Amino acid sequence: MNILVTGANGQLGNEMRIVSRESTDNWIFTDVIGTEGQQTVILDITDIEAVRRIVSENNVDAIVNCAAYTNVDAAESNFELAERLNADAPENLAKAMQETGGLLVHISTDYVFGKEPYNTPCTEDREGTPTGVYGLTKLNGERKIIESGAKYVIIRTAWLYSEFGRNFCKTMMNLTATKSELNVVFDQCGTPTYALDLAKAIAVILRNPVEGIYHYSNEGVCSWFDFTKMIAQYAGNTSCDIRPCHSSEFPSPVTRPSYSVLDKTKIKRTFGLTIPYWTDSLQICIKNLTGK
Ligand SMILES: NC(=O)c1ccc[n+]([C@@H]2O[C@H](COP(=O)([O-])OP(=O)(O)OC[C@H]3O[C@@H](n4cnc5c(N)ncnc54)[C@H](OP(=O)(O)O)[C@@H]3O)[C@@H](O)[C@H]2O)c1
Repeated sequence: MNILVTGANGQLGNEMRIVSRESTDNWIFTDVIGTEGQQTVILDITDIEAVRRIVSENNVDAIVNCAAYTNVDAAESNFELAERLNADAPENLAKAMQETGGLLVHISTDYVFGKEPYNTPCTEDREGTPTGVYGLTKLNGERKIIESGAKYVIIRTAWLYSEFGRNFCKTMMNLTATKSELNVVFDQCGTPTYALDLAKAIAVILRNPVEGIYHYSNEGVCSWFDFTKMIAQYAGNTSCDIRPCHSSEFPSPVTRPSYSVLDKTKIKRTFGLTIPYWTDSLQICIKNLTGK
């Protein structure tokens, strides 16, 4: 199979590179810019003709779309760019796959929910009610893919972290190593997702795809405070006093839900996946980062 990965320099894209090493398929890693020491084909997914060209030249059977506009707060003042990357560009990829009969695996987010609060794990059939531009544009992307008539698998994930790029885990490793005290919100709960686990799940799905929308995160539930406590513990950062605080102490342009846990029953049942518990995966990621 010829598999094209977009956004290959991001968190998930880099984990897809790692997973591809175990595969006999032909992988084409693309991003809007190149990176030193990595094989990256330049592809701007907002350019539909460039997408069509690379798909045709490489006989692409499936696209894994890891590219996105992911800055949730900045999206509030950048609707046009966020819409172009999160909605119009996935539509380009979907059109290219619809024209050739290929499959689009697209990554979405728990931010498509939020306005209608819930307090039990959220299933795929719940109506999207985003509270901000990022969630709205990601929801628009999902809709455009479905309307395109292409074969698709949409995976909504949450609280993504990895060894690569900027993310909560790496930020908190740094802050708990350098600060004597830190306030972290305890009134927002969700589930972290180690991008390597998601990448492995995508590799399984590519083998035997079943169209639809799915939810994926690691197992379990925690607050950002709990997440930080475990990050500090696994990183060996014992001298920082980590304290629970309310989200009202950290005003943000986007309202974040107090409970944002994804129900993963469908993805586990459909693809026979066993999903790691969040602390087990966190420990592996931090071990990879620290070498300890
Ligand atoms: N991060 C999270 O917490 C989170 C949570 C839930 C869902 N998700 C979703 O998971 C997916 C992967 O997220 P991630 O954190 O791995 O993203 P990321 O690290 O921000 O990577 C996104 C990549 O896309 C690239 N890109 C930007 N514009 C592009 C364009 N026009 N054409 C091609 N590539 C372009 C970026 O390049 P530049 O950096 O050079 O712009 C970057 O390398 C996204 O769909 C995201 O919405 C993320």
